[in-house]
Amino acid sequence: MPVPMLELAPQNVSVKEQILQGLAGIIDRSSFILGTNVKALEEELAAYSGAASAIGMSSGTDALLVALMALGVGPGDEVIIPTFTFFATAGVVARTGATPVFIDLDPVTFNATGALVEAAITPRTKAIMPVHLFGQLAEMPAIMAVAAKHGIPVIEDACQSLGAKGWGKSAGQFGELTGCSFYPTKNLGAFGDAGMTLVRDDAALAARVRRLRVHGMEPVYVHHEIGMNGRMDEFQALVLRAKLPLLEGWHAGRRRHAQWYLERLQGVPQEQMALPLEAVPDGRHIYNQFTIRVKGGRRDALQAHLKALGIGCAVYYPICLHEQPCFKDLGYRNGQLPESERAAQEVLSLPVYPEMTEAMREEVAQGLLSFFSNAG
Ligand SMILES: Cc1ncc(COP(=O)(O)O)c(C=O)c1O
Repeated sequence: MPVPMLELAPQNVSVKEQILQGLAGIIDRSSFILGTNVKALEEELAAYSGAASAIGMSSGTDALLVALMALGVGPGDEVIIPTFTFFATAGVVARTGATPVFIDLDPVTFNATGALVEAAITPRTKAIMPVHLFGQLAEMPAIMAVAAKHGIPVIEDACQSLGAKGWGKSAGQFGELTGCSFYPTKNLGAFGDAGMTLVRDDAALAARVRRLRVHGMEPVYVHHEIGMNGRMDEFQALVLRAKLPLLEGWHAGRRRHAQWYLERLQGVPQEQMALPLEAVPDGRHIYNQFTIRVKGGRRDALQAHLKALGIGCAVYYPICLHEQPCFKDLGYRNGQLPESERAAQEVLSLPVYPEMTEAMREEVAQGLLSFFSNAG
């Protein structure tokens, strides 16, 4: 039985009728920009995340970019970010004219730590942007303590982790600002690009984000600063509102599959494979990805083995950002961020979407077990 890495159609069936009806309402009202659905979603997501304000954006990338702009990040500044993440985290920093300063990761969680952040701070550090990779929070209390000590604001990249919890809080309740993505593969996915900038508690900062979202304009045709067109589409807000009440159930479904994998695969020797670990105290990993490490240089062989069996899997991410051609001029060398470089060689993400059946996940487990039983 083939098992795709991700299937969106079964999930979308559950909201199809509601969305079609809502779409008729949007057409009847014909108010497509910053309409009633965007406003309502902003309130619903502020309540869901526990942040004071939520501002609907056109993508996760723009949600992070506007956060940097609202903090006044620009040329001559440095922003500390992980090197092992999706490109957008670094792309937005470079887009402001600031310099990304890449840091290594905790090999257990794939995330940034307070110690790694602290070691990268210089007099030019203007912001710190940890990523909650794969659905698990970075070491936020330690990172926030370092940030407070140096008086530097923090932007959470929660593009993979809206709903992740730990240390008694949720993603969006630690840093001054947070960027979320609703790219279709996220736990809460739109029918196209969409994102949200969360503002923890600063009303003036939230007002600046709102203004930057519409070309720095307030009131109409008066431009205080150069912003962007980063608005969320009314249709995407409709889709996200239909899905939001189901999100907790989908997180739970992913967590159930993950727990099952952890038990089913525990017999594979640790020298050959490492399973993901929930490392956050009182935490909730939302498993946007279930990512294993394949040891002994055999990751690509396992991927080929699974593909031959019709089992979907994917490498997030094969190349660290400090080794990307576009950042060559920053002067990083191979071996400089060794844990991240090792992760890029070893990681493999497995299907973990909530609509997977028990038979499908058993198929994935059998595929892995048949590979490792042939090891050595
Ligand atoms: C860690 C991370 N940051 C930023 C982004 C950018 O989000 P988007 O694709 O919605 O622009 C993504 C998502 O794809 C992501 O995974």
